Amino acid sequence: MRVLLIATSLLASFTFSRADEDISTSGIFSPPSVTKDLTSRDGTKIHVQAVGNPNNPHIIFAHGLACTLAAFDPLFEDPLLQATLYMVRYDTRGHGLSGKPLSPAFYTSDRYADDLKAIISAFKLNKPFFAGWSLAGAISADIAANFPSPLPFSGLIWLAALPYLGDILPKVATEKVLSFLPGLQDTKDVALGLQTRIDFVETLSAKNDVVPYATKLGWVGSAVYLPPAVASLALGRSQDPTRLFAEAAAGWPLLILHGSADKQINGTAVISNLAPAFKNVESRLIQGAGHILFYDDEPTIARYLFAFITRVRLTNPYPIKK
Ligand SMILES: *[C@@H]1O[C@H](CO)[C@@H](O)[C@H](O)[C@H]1NC(C)=O
Repeated sequence: MRVLLIATSLLASFTFSRADEDISTSGIFSPPSVTKDLTSRDGTKIHVQAVGNPNNPHIIFAHGLACTLAAFDPLFEDPLLQATLYMVRYDTRGHGLSGKPLSPAFYTSDRYADDLKAIISAFKLNKPFFAGWSLAGAISADIAANFPSPLPFSGLIWLAALPYLGDILPKVATEKVLSFLPGLQDTKDVALGLQTRIDFVETLSAKNDVVPYATKLGWVGSAVYLPPAVASLALGRSQDPTRLFAEAAAGWPLLILHGSADKQINGTAVISNLAPAFKNVESRLIQGAGHILFYDDEPTIARYLFAFITRVRLTNPYPIKK
């Protein structure tokens, strides 16, 4: 409680003085980042990084298709979040520096949950929040289907998320992003595969024209780490969202953050289709932000994220008390 109050006042002072160069968080203890290569239950290597103070609320971030944990740099470099949270991010299986098994058996719903179990155990996380960006929003259905109820996750944050794999995809995915899927999965046509990775990156930010060249090169590089055959496995896996909807009705807290200028997933459609299923949901459409909303408008995302975590910890709304 006391920590929360201190953190809240810190947030207030920082938020309202952000332009003031004299404000510094340098007096706050924030241990150096820790990187670990874990082994998930099926032997797949999972590359994980944590920053911040383990005494603060815990949150795990998962990136979207053809990206890596590096996409979250703007949030992980935010001194306010470093000082008030313990943030963990990982390369999802098949991506970045994590293992890339080539059989569908390694991309079942329970394997994705196993990766989180390995992370929770290795980093000693206590009721973490889970933040899934884009395709990783669907990992919330893996959590709900494979952890005991009530879920040992304090709440869920969807960052420009695909809510789950299945019937919802055509309702929320744009024509643009659907047009990239064949080129990302093609194992024969090298020219198409490489060009699609570049085109895909050009639709991440709403302010694409001013994204630094080096940043784009990094994003394209992330996309190259995803083998085309693995893209097929990550996109083609099946999920059962039944348990997700059950936990939604039981009050599992959800924060939906989506950019109004997202060229890949339609935030209005996500909110109108999914928010009604959640008893405890907050939805924010961030004006002018694109698919990589925490790059396009990091201060707004950080503020909503922190306010949500603080509110959930103070009100403890899940599971709903009978
Ligand atoms: C996004 O979805 C909403 C609701 O389904 C729809 O009205 C709107 O036209 C869609 N926007 C775009 C750009 O497709």
